[in-house]
Amino acid sequence: MKVLIVGSGGREHALAWACSRSGLSPQIYCAPGNGGTTRIAENVDIKADDLGDIVDFVRKETVDLTIVGPEAPLVNGLVDKLTARGYRVFGPSKSAAGIEGSKSFSKSLMQETGVPTAEYRTFTEFDEARRYILESGGNVVVKASGLAAGKGATVCINKEEAVLVAEAMLLKCKFGDASREIVIEKCLKGSEMSLMAFSDGEDYLLLPPSRDHKRAFDNDEGPNTGGMGAYSPLDEFKPDEIAHTAESVFPPVLKRLAELGAPYHGLLYAGLMLTSDGPRVLEFNCRFGDPETQAQLPIMIEDPLEIMLAVSENRLGAWMAEHNCASNDWMKLGGDRHAVTVVAAASGYPAGYAKGMKIENLPEDTDGVIIFHAGTSLKNGDLVTTGGRVLAVTGLGDSHREAVETAYGSIAQVEFKGVRFRNDIGRGR
Ligand code: AMP
Ligand code: GLY
Repeated sequence: MKVLIVGSGGREHALAWACSRSGLSPQIYCAPGNGGTTRIAENVDIKADDLGDIVDFVRKETVDLTIVGPEAPLVNGLVDKLTARGYRVFGPSKSAAGIEGSKSFSKSLMQETGVPTAEYRTFTEFDEARRYILESGGNVVVKASGLAAGKGATVCINKEEAVLVAEAMLLKCKFGDASREIVIEKCLKGSEMSLMAFSDGEDYLLLPPSRDHKRAFDNDEGPNTGGMGAYSPLDEFKPDEIAHTAESVFPPVLKRLAELGAPYHGLLYAGLMLTSDGPRVLEFNCRFGDPETQAQLPIMIEDPLEIMLAVSENRLGAWMAEHNCASNDWMKLGGDRHAVTVVAAASGYPAGYAKGMKIENLPEDTDGVIIFHAGTSLKNGDLVTTGGRVLAVTGLGDSHREAVETAYGSIAQVEFKGVRFRNDIGRGR
């Protein structure tokens, strides 16, 4: 079996890692992959956004399953191109991926289906946005409606900042077309939780719940990033609390998408805030989380590749029946292990950062530690940095505490100029 993984980050390395351990023993390709995926897969020199080249590769190599990692190719219709030619693919169609590609669409979907979310309005005119901000007192989050590489949401400290952010987005086109329309929503308080579910448009299967740490610095200070670390599962919640939350989110949204002619196939990610009034969905993503995936896949007992294949063939329900697994049985998928993932970033990330630094003293993977590469590549035999998030170090353990200590014991050995990581991933609870 040939599997192609589209993308080059830590999430894609984790997907390739999971496939490399699958009983289906696939031959794995990554387009374009990174310095870590070369050890378990064949890196193909095609960027994730070169949709035509990806389709050509799938045809030429007769790839059996394409797994799409990042949101951009999904929102741009890679899945539609592949399925139209009869190829198996894991990921939503362009219209279903609109749940991430347009925050305005995803908010209206939540409103229509009664999924709890923050109060909001959408704007294309700056004057109207400004009036709304001034009237609402400024306790708001301003978001570009379209894709902005994880940087499109600003939690504003006051109305002056909110007005400036809205102006930059609507009048100065800060995110190009992605910020022609903006969402302004009420700022909520609480801790966050990421819930991810496989879905074939009809059934869903929850993965172990996880928590991302989006801010750049310890104590959740500094700007939002793509994610500086994650852990899974969240044992501060009872499984039935998680199940109850998942039930209030996934079935209504999946049903509505199917009614709209956009059944959801792939991985649906709900980012939630647990407020004193109950859970609220902050966002949906149309793909696996990064770095949550690097924590979730290593603790899975069942084979993620088998599940993705079942999703791509519209037989998730049959897979679940065979494995005696109900939608919210994440304990069965996640078992008893704990994982904590800490991201090693380049100094300056998420703003400007240098690339090309030599990475040294990288620990070898063990039963308790996996090093997932993100922004790395091999140059003349040296491993060098090519991105802001460079590595994601996952520590595993029979307890959360053990996983934390294992991850930190390992990441402390990694050396490259300016290496930086948060010291409080999974520690502040
Ligand atoms: P989003 O792109 O919508 O996921 O937002 C990115 C991050 O901004 C979230 O993970 C939260 O940390 C924060 N955020 C988004 N919406 C809100 C909100 N309504 N209230 C407070 N924080 C938010
Ligand atoms: N970790 C946040 C995301 O993948 O969007």
